[in-house]
Amino acid sequence: MTRYTLITGASSGIGLAMAEALARRGRNLVLIARHREALEAIASELTQRFGVEVLFRVCDLGEPLRLSGFILELEQGERQFDLLVNCAGIGTCGPFFAQEWADQQDLIDINITALSRLCHTIGNAMALQGGGQILNVASIAGFQPGPWMSTYYASKAYVLHFSEGLREELRGVGVKVSVLCPGPTRTAFFRTANLEAGRLDNSKLMMNAEEVALAAVRGLERNRALIIPGWQNRLLATAPRFMPRWLARKLYGAINKHYCPH
Ligand SMILES: NC(=O)c1ccc[n+]([C@@H]2O[C@H](COP(=O)([O-])OP(=O)(O)OC[C@H]3O[C@@H](n4cnc5c(N)ncnc54)[C@H](OP(=O)(O)O)[C@@H]3O)[C@@H](O)[C@H]2O)c1
Repeated sequence: MTRYTLITGASSGIGLAMAEALARRGRNLVLIARHREALEAIASELTQRFGVEVLFRVCDLGEPLRLSGFILELEQGERQFDLLVNCAGIGTCGPFFAQEWADQQDLIDINITALSRLCHTIGNAMALQGGGQILNVASIAGFQPGPWMSTYYASKAYVLHFSEGLREELRGVGVKVSVLCPGPTRTAFFRTANLEAGRLDNSKLMMNAEEVALAAVRGLERNRALIIPGWQNRLLATAPRFMPRWLARKLYGAINKHYCPH
């Protein structure tokens, strides 16, 4: 039976780069995002270039009813998945009370709820079919609190800890779980999060989505628990462990305040 890789957030940035890297390795794909035209173009290009089957499904993962409909479709469908890449995610920034609640709710629905439900449904199917692999996209933001982007940092801390927890739980049923923690990456993320990324553009810290995807695919091949692309990001992810928490709060608050318009 043909097996597929399901990738959320595959219409741009890191998810798109993951789709290309995995198609190059001969994997059949199902791509998820909201923008139909982008998905259509990507599916046809990847099929032409790599001769793999690339399907797509338009879904707003932040809409509870649409997410439930999609989950039902997956549960009732015949398609089998051997890899799930949960990459869709959004950020918001600014003082918590100055931000619209609807945007915070969206972030929680996409970054946390949709990711967890897809792990629940597809991970369970993988366990029944005898194995599979899950890659959840967190961030180096998940390693410490992030004032002025508190909801985003906390959502990524959730993804990080949830994924590591699941990895241990699912070891017994043959489902391997890895978590990807990129640092700043050149994508549309900064624009949609309303961050002033121009100031970061020339930073040595910025990676390309393709570099991040390559590190992710290599990490998956080695079944790494935690995949942090780039030595600078590994350093940034480790540093908070050696700081008192008051210092981490102050430091990351100052950094975020610098990049958030307010
Ligand atoms: N860029 C960075 O510096 C960075 C660093 C660390 C972690 N990350 C994480 O990497 C992941 C990918 O982000 P990116 O940097 O590649 O940003 P991006 O280019 O903005 O990609 C975000 C993807 O998520 C999809 N998406 C957004 N809202 C959605 C929704 N409601 N329903 C379905 N799909 C939705 C978007 O597709 P549509 O708009 O077509 O729906 C797009 O494909 C995110 O989880 C982000 O937190 C990014």
